[in-house]
Amino acid sequence: MIGRLNHVAIAVANLAKATETYRDTLGAEVSKPQAEPEHGVTVVFVNLQNTKIELLEPLGDSSPIAKFLEKNPSGGIHHVCYEVDDIVAARDKMKAMGARVLGDGEPKIGAHGKPVLFLHPKDFCGTLTELEQA
Ligand code: CO
Repeated sequence: MIGRLNHVAIAVANLAKATETYRDTLGAEVSKPQAEPEHGVTVVFVNLQNTKIELLEPLGDSSPIAKFLEKNPSGGIHHVCYEVDDIVAARDKMKAMGARVLGDGEPKIGAHGKPVLFLHPKDFCGTLTELEQA
């Protein structure tokens, strides 16, 4: 059911430093920082040939990644995002299999302007998992 790996999101405390690491040490193509106040993050996109890495820095007081960084002060993988053709069908199938969908269970418009859902990490090998309708 899942298709391509859309992105891996890495939470970072210092976006400028993380961007330097990806651009200068790893030699990757990086975007300019993009503030997304409605998602509580500033994002830099690292464009790889087969997927993207999203470097996320907290923005504002109620950032969804603030707690994660408290527990992981040097940063870490926050979630992975897989593409699906039909997000409602994917959700219904996963719920029927016993997986928990976070929030009210309804798809939200994500950072790429497409419907997304998050699945409970305890049901997916300890990894917060995002689905995006491609
Ligand atoms: Co994401």
